[in-house]
Amino acid sequence: MSDPAPRPAPSRTQLPAWQALAAHHAEVAGLHLRDLFAADPERGERLTAQGAGLFLDYSKNRVTDKTLRLLLDLAREVGVEQKRDAMFAGERLNVTEGRAVLHTALRAPRDAVVMVDGENVVPGVHEVLDRMAAFADAVRSGEWRGATGQPIRNVVNIGIGGSDLGPVMASEALKFYADRNLTLRFVSNVDGTDLMEKTRDLDPAQTLFIVSSKTFTTQETMANAASARTWLIAGLGDESAVARHFVAVSTNAEAVQGFGIDPAHMFGFWDWVGGRYSIGSAIGLSLMIAVGPGHFRELLAGFHDMDEHFRTAPLGANLPVLLGLLGVWYRNFFGAQTHAVLPYDGYLAYFPAYLQQLDMESNGKHVTLGGQEVDHDTGPVVWGQPGTNGQHAFYQLIHQGTTLIPCDFIAFAQSLNPLPTAGGPTHHDLLTANVFAQTEALAFGKMREEVLAGGVSPELAPHRVFEGNRPTNTLLAGRLTPRVLGALIALYEHKVFVQGVVWDVNSFDQWGVELGKVLAGQIVPELTAGAEPELRHDSSTNALIRWYRARRG
Ligand code: F6P
Repeated sequence: MSDPAPRPAPSRTQLPAWQALAAHHAEVAGLHLRDLFAADPERGERLTAQGAGLFLDYSKNRVTDKTLRLLLDLAREVGVEQKRDAMFAGERLNVTEGRAVLHTALRAPRDAVVMVDGENVVPGVHEVLDRMAAFADAVRSGEWRGATGQPIRNVVNIGIGGSDLGPVMASEALKFYADRNLTLRFVSNVDGTDLMEKTRDLDPAQTLFIVSSKTFTTQETMANAASARTWLIAGLGDESAVARHFVAVSTNAEAVQGFGIDPAHMFGFWDWVGGRYSIGSAIGLSLMIAVGPGHFRELLAGFHDMDEHFRTAPLGANLPVLLGLLGVWYRNFFGAQTHAVLPYDGYLAYFPAYLQQLDMESNGKHVTLGGQEVDHDTGPVVWGQPGTNGQHAFYQLIHQGTTLIPCDFIAFAQSLNPLPTAGGPTHHDLLTANVFAQTEALAFGKMREEVLAGGVSPELAPHRVFEGNRPTNTLLAGRLTPRVLGALIALYEHKVFVQGVVWDVNSFDQWGVELGKVLAGQIVPELTAGAEPELRHDSSTNALIRWYRARRG
């Protein structure tokens, strides 16, 4: 007798906690933050939490104590704690790829034990970290020489997606700590402009390429690596130069060797590290060279601080759980389609872009773990840019537009570049005042009576009214240190995890990127074939291909 087909898990929307939240939403959706604050003078201090060096004020959210209780019920009902423990224990949560999800092992201390298939993976993690550190020190000190005997002054990471965005974001975030004698560049796009512009002023004799690719098959990275190799050989006149100017970061030793990089110059990682979760692995090599192994280890320590907080803090005081559940509240019950992340620190310029891959590639899914179509929304569109610049661009819509956009504001008590102004307050005082002003304005707005009382005419008043009631989280930390950055990244990693569990999706695969890759692979020869190829696409794609063929030169 064959096994009966597995019974599909009940839809999330049928769970008692979900239904209780839906009913509750109908009761509280009309409440204004003004009223919630007026009813509870302690709210601003009560609805806060902290961990791993981060402080979260979530009081300016459209929640009551009951909302929070029901959201926590939902977290328990869907098994957030059990799933979290299963992730840390190395269970194969990535069911569609049959893989464990263990980026947390990348930042586990040397004496920790994390078992995968009966093997403790922590010693291997530290062995690679130690090799990376030795190599980074050799490059930084000038001990590692290029083929002509010159020290390396330029480091170019070639990679895309998770093999690019993490190092790009973190090297900008930690620029303050970087060796300014080294030039760090990132080539990701298959657009030849990227490689050309990033190498045009570099001396090949002083340039090291780090080819970063988990699979070592990604079209963009392989094309860029091959062209960089050509550039280097043309510059140095000798193929043997490649050995001193190319290293690789990958899980695919065979392909690395096939490309011509000595396995001794390869830094490995493992299939249980997802691309978008890989910044703490050897994928961070370019970053480590820039900021030094000490700062890189501090970054890992910050990740670990947040891992421990996530693993041990009670759900109601657990930062990733709170952020995740609040996101669910807006996404699924208020129908918010986007979520803005607004760091008030120029060094975090690429943090929203980094979060886009982390969040949208993880939770942009339409089927459950069991393969059924979801009957609820999943991941939001994530976007943002540093304040105060955004204030003069898109905040108008957040304040007065017709779309609800929950926002995370991120700020620091101290600037890494304290700069006084002639008038008294420092630049940082001005910056921070804007953070607090924005969240206050978004929450409380300015009512018609207040506008009229300010002398505005009744005709103009509607334009000057701010309805408020626009939710925000405020995340604060002391200074943007490597440790704080690690905690911040891990906070969002685990937030995404919590939401994936609530939505019953696999946050660790990315099949949605495959179809485009396959079709591009088919179209390439159609663009370049000498004779007119037989095209079997739709009429639009066929015509576009013909248009290009007629003009490609
Ligand atoms: O775009 C899909 C993706 O697989 C990402 O998840 C990944 O980070 C990126 O491509 C790069 O992959 P690789 O490191 O294997 O080159």
